[in-house]
Amino acid sequence: MSLLQGKKGIVFGIANERSYAYFITKQLLAQGAECAFTHLPIGKMEARLRKAVASLGVEDPWIAPFEAGSDESLDTLFTRVHDDFGDIDFVVHSIAFADKDYLKPDMFHQTPRQTYLDAIDVSAFSLVAITNRAMKIMPNGGSILSLSFYGGEKVMPGYNVMGVAKACLEHTTRYLAYEMGDADRKIRVNCISAGPLKTLAGAAFGGMDQMLEHQSKKSPLKRPNTGEEVGNTAVYLLSDLSSAVTGETIHVDAGYSIVGL
Ligand SMILES: NC(=O)c1ccc[n+]([C@@H]2O[C@H](COP(=O)([O-])OP(=O)(O)OC[C@H]3O[C@@H](n4cnc5c(N)ncnc54)[C@H](O)[C@@H]3O)[C@@H](O)[C@H]2O)c1
Repeated sequence: MSLLQGKKGIVFGIANERSYAYFITKQLLAQGAECAFTHLPIGKMEARLRKAVASLGVEDPWIAPFEAGSDESLDTLFTRVHDDFGDIDFVVHSIAFADKDYLKPDMFHQTPRQTYLDAIDVSAFSLVAITNRAMKIMPNGGSILSLSFYGGEKVMPGYNVMGVAKACLEHTTRYLAYEMGDADRKIRVNCISAGPLKTLAGAAFGGMDQMLEHQSKKSPLKRPNTGEEVGNTAVYLLSDLSSAVTGETIHVDAGYSIVGL
């Protein structure tokens, strides 16, 4: 069964073969989806993205630079996507940023104003900005997905301003879902709260090994989740299997978030 045959979308956030967006793309491609990709316009990000996408067997991928903090970049990207790639059915928002100097225990209260605002801007407001543009090239409705973490619900020392940004992202999901759901738009907006994974963004937060160990010991399934398992839930949320699901944050964390002790 190909759950996403004939569906096209944009994947934001493949930095390399360890990114959550990489594993999501892997599972989307396996279900017949066609994907466009973006990379940060700095350093070796384009080359890394091309290498990662090639390893997934995508020949001649549609790739463009994108900076989430820039309205100009957002406008240019969506114009280019529509011109070259056409209408779309889904979006994967798998991007986040916070200055790692403030992702350390006992640093939250010292977060400077601009550091706080930048984290919210890139990690949460970008979902609003992307949705506002994506809806215009989703004439047949569709599905938008972002990635959160349990540190947006509970305090994880060191996750700090990123936790605040994730709380913002999850509630942004609900407000967007409300407005996007009407009969003219028929766009669903959901979020996956994924367990810890050793990625570039994950490494910025010092507590990764401790979180992985904790999930393996305390979660009902007594193990970390895999990137592919997050990808499988993305397939569900981006396909018609979840046609009555919107505004949700689904935990894919081996059940870790249900445990109190
Ligand atoms: N790794 C984890 O433990 C974990 C757990 C739960 C949720 N998440 C979330 O998953 C998502 C993907 O992160 P990841 O862990 O795969 O790390 P990653 O570093 O592989 O991906 C983060 C992506 O964000 C992009 N990005 C950062 N700033 C940007 C900007 N200004 N404009 C455009 N793109 C920008 C990066 O280029 C990169 O591709 C993030 O939302 C992250 O918070 C990660």
